[in-house]
This record gives sequence, C-alpha cells and structure tokens, in this order.
Amino acid sequence: MTRGFMDLRGWLALLEKENELRRIRAEVDWDREIGAVSRRALEKKGPALLFETIKGYRGGRCTKVLTNALGDRRRLALALGFPKDVGNAELVQYVMKKNRETIPPRVVTTGPVKEVVVRGDAVDQTEFPVPRWNFREGGRYIHTFSAIVTRDPDTHVMNVGIYRGMIGKKNTTPFLLIKGGQHWGAHFVKYAGKGQPMPVACVIGWDPIMPFLAGSPLPTGVCEWDVMGAYRGEPAQLVPCETVDLEVPAGAEIVLEGFISDDPATYESEGPFGEFTGYVSDVPTPRPTMKVTCITHRREPIFQGCLEGTLPGSYSENSVMSSVQRAAIAWNILTGAGIPGIRDVYVHPITNGVNVCVKITKHYQGQPKQIAAALWGNAAAQYRYKHVWVVEDDIDVSSYEQIDWAVAHRVNAGEGGIVIFPGSFGSPIDPSTPLEDRNVAQLGTGLWNRVLFDATRNWKFERRAEWGGERFPPTVRPAPEDEARVRERWQEFGLGDV
Ligand SMILES: Cc1cc2nc3c(=O)[nH]c(=O)nc-3n(C[C@H](O)[C@H](O)[C@H](O)COP(=O)(O)O)c2cc1C
Repeated sequence: MTRGFMDLRGWLALLEKENELRRIRAEVDWDREIGAVSRRALEKKGPALLFETIKGYRGGRCTKVLTNALGDRRRLALALGFPKDVGNAELVQYVMKKNRETIPPRVVTTGPVKEVVVRGDAVDQTEFPVPRWNFREGGRYIHTFSAIVTRDPDTHVMNVGIYRGMIGKKNTTPFLLIKGGQHWGAHFVKYAGKGQPMPVACVIGWDPIMPFLAGSPLPTGVCEWDVMGAYRGEPAQLVPCETVDLEVPAGAEIVLEGFISDDPATYESEGPFGEFTGYVSDVPTPRPTMKVTCITHRREPIFQGCLEGTLPGSYSENSVMSSVQRAAIAWNILTGAGIPGIRDVYVHPITNGVNVCVKITKHYQGQPKQIAAALWGNAAAQYRYKHVWVVEDDIDVSSYEQIDWAVAHRVNAGEGGIVIFPGSFGSPIDPSTPLEDRNVAQLGTGLWNRVLFDATRNWKFERRAEWGGERFPPTVRPAPEDEARVRERWQEFGLGDV
C-alpha cells in the first residue's frame, strides 16, 4: 500500500486524474466568497477546488488557492493509497497500524521550497490570497491546514500539528495556542521557562499525509515526520529553515518561519473564528503571536487552506480526517490499555470525534467505565471524546438508529448507565461550556464535563432460564426457521415485489 511521497502538485495531478478536482478560472474574492463556494461544494459532496483567479492577486507573488482537498472520504482514501470506495473499518485498521510505525526523515541541503526567499522587512503575509473564510471571522486565517513545526528544547524531537492562526500585522500571526493538552503548547511552556521565544515553522501545501497526521494527536515524543515516512514507505526529505532551527519538507509550497514569545506585551487579538464545532465562537482574545522572520516558497506557489466547521450535511476536511484518525487513535489507546473485547470504534463525521462509539464483546460489568477512563486519561482526549458511547456486538456503531435503540432500552441512568466525569480537561471552544470554564489564560485549557453512556446490558441482572439463559429478554425477531420458511414462500404470498 506504500506509495512514496508526493508534493502538492503530485496530489493535484492524482485528484485531477480521478476527476476529484475542479479548477475555477472565474475571478473570486478572497473575502467571504472562497469560503461560501467551498461550503456549497462540501454540501454537494463535491470535488476539491483550485481557485486560479483571485481578486487583487493577478500577477502577484501567489495567485492560487486550494480548498476541500480532503473534504470527502473518497479523496482521503486516495491520499492513503486505497480505492475511493474502501470501507471505514479497513481504513481505520490501516491507520491504527501505520500510526505505530516510523521511518525517520532525511535532511537534504535544498529543494524547491527555497526557490524564493523573503526575509525581514520584505515579509508581508497579505501577498498571499488568504481567504476570510466566513463573514463573521475576525480576520484572514492563514493557518487552517498548515503543518506547524516546533521542537522540544530538551529532547530536540520535532512536533508537527495543525493550529489555527490569523494574519495580524503584515508579519505577525496570533494563534490559538493553548498550553495544556497539545504538543506545541508543552514546547511553548518549556521555552517560556527558559526565557526564550519558541521557534516555529508553518508549512503550507505538501503531501496530503501531512495534514492527515499533523491534525491528529500521536503520542507525546513521537515525531510526525517519522510516522509520515512509515505511511509513505520512504524517508521524508526535509530542508533546514533559514532563520529557525527546524526542518521542513523540501517540496513544500510555502513555509513561514518565526518566533512566538510568552511576553503578554507581544500578544495580539485573534478571533472570532468559524470553529470545527460549526459555531463561530470566541470573542476576540489576546493570544500568543508569531513574529514572521522569513518566508520561503516555490515559484508560483499554491496557497492551501481549509474551510473549518461542520454542519449537518456538510463535513469539513477536519471531520473527514477525524472520522478515521480519531477512531484509530481511540482504538489504539484502548488496546494499549489492555482492555479486552474491543470490536469496533466509530466516529460519526458530524461530531469530529467529540462523540465516540465503541463496540465491545462484554467481558465484565465495569468494562465500559474502564473504556471511558482510558480515553479520558489520554492526552488525545483534548478537544475530543467528550461523550463516549459503549454498545455490545449486536449493535452496528456506524448506525445512529442502532445506537439509539441500545440507548433507549439498555441505558438506566440510576444504575450507572450514565456517568458524568466533571471538571476534566477539555475544549476551550465548546459553545456549551460557560466562558469562565474556557478561560485559557487562567486555566491552561477548557474544562469539560465528560459523559459515558453505557448502553450495554447490565450484568447485575440475573440470567433467567425463560430468557434462554440471558440477562435481557429475547427480541421480537421471529425464530430463524420461521424466517427461512417465510423467505421461501414470499412469492407464493404474492409479496415478491415487496
Ligand atoms: C483542520 C484542522 C484545524 C485544527 N485547528 C486547531 C486549532 O486551531 N487549535 C488547536 O489547538 N487544534 C487544532 N486542530 C487539532 C490539532 O491539530 C490536533 O489536536 C493535533 O493533534 C495537534 O497536534 P499535537 O497532537 O502534535 O499537538 C485542528 C485540526 C485540524 C485537522
């Protein structure tokens, strides 16, 4: 299944060959219009979009914007080397395996990303056609799908994550940088402890494996470049940055380098932003801000961003990726915790993994609570796994109807069927959390009341002979022999067309 790395242009060529890309040559406005077109394309389960003529950017440093590239399961399957119609379980199993493998990158001296180098005063982020994705947003979000690279100052291991950032001044970028829960936040705390600003590199546009892994919580200390190598079956080729001690893909489209200080005097206002939750949340808030020291890019670079926010009927790129990654990561956590009987883990894309459904063969009564505790005790539960559903193996976790049936008739809240775990670490952008509980400056991250729905049959109930030795009564399904006979005689009953 391994395929070697491809740069963004190779990815576009593959999408075009598979009829999964549209080039839009009509002029569009970066201000609101690109976002609105992208939303409609998501609603229609449409292709990736390459905008080639952007108002005010003809003949400029950068003239093209790519969105929706991973905005459908078909394209995620292609990015991972599978046929477009691969099933969810097969993808999840593959990702579980690959997330645990590594092939370290190779550092080379130069590459296409160094074709143009812009330093110091010449840096101007507005030379890129960065969309204002949504009319309610506080600015132009340059980092929505960028891979943000930092290095642990103690171990020197790099981390690659997706964290949103908005253009502040022409050379500044305030970020939603939370100190608790995410890996660059942990690096930031360490640099601040040493009284140093944190070096950062923001990589825009490369192999689609980059956002797929950058947007997913791999365990602390695991370098995403190594895991990307395992997915592609060869080392990623990286080049050293110009002004920071970090390495980035030699074939990337655009790289912005700089530093983020923890001095509140350097903070700039960020937000509101159209969040993955589907809500525009966050009042403008002073945030840690990157000072951009250098930009390197390919000739005629392609800017890539993602329209965040999932609504019923339109799933963002984040939800498409999360539905596979967040399920795979949860399953690996549960296996690593030694919990038996995990049969399936499913994330409905609409929830982005805020809700997760686990199917088990029940081995003991306390197993669902053990599952919830294992997930909630893991750093990957930042922003995710707020609600954990546990069902048994007669329930298809990909079916809301089946889950609902199990919840209706197997959950007894007074018998421990619903467990609330209050005051846990959690998302600072959840609109159901009171503002005082998502004061990141004070609390480090948000506070969540997490909930387990144990929709498994209660083992405190005695097995009864009249129920065939089960703890729950039999269902209304006819006897198998009756079903078989009816199937045979269906035509005879005059029901063949039903
Ligand atoms: C499109 C997209 C946008 C994201 N935006 C943010 C964000 O603004 N802030 C944030 O903290 N996490 C964001 N995430 C989630 C992080 O990327 C994710 O938690 C990841 O695990 C972070 O990397 P780390 O685990 O190495 O810290 C986003 C993910 C995706 C896919």
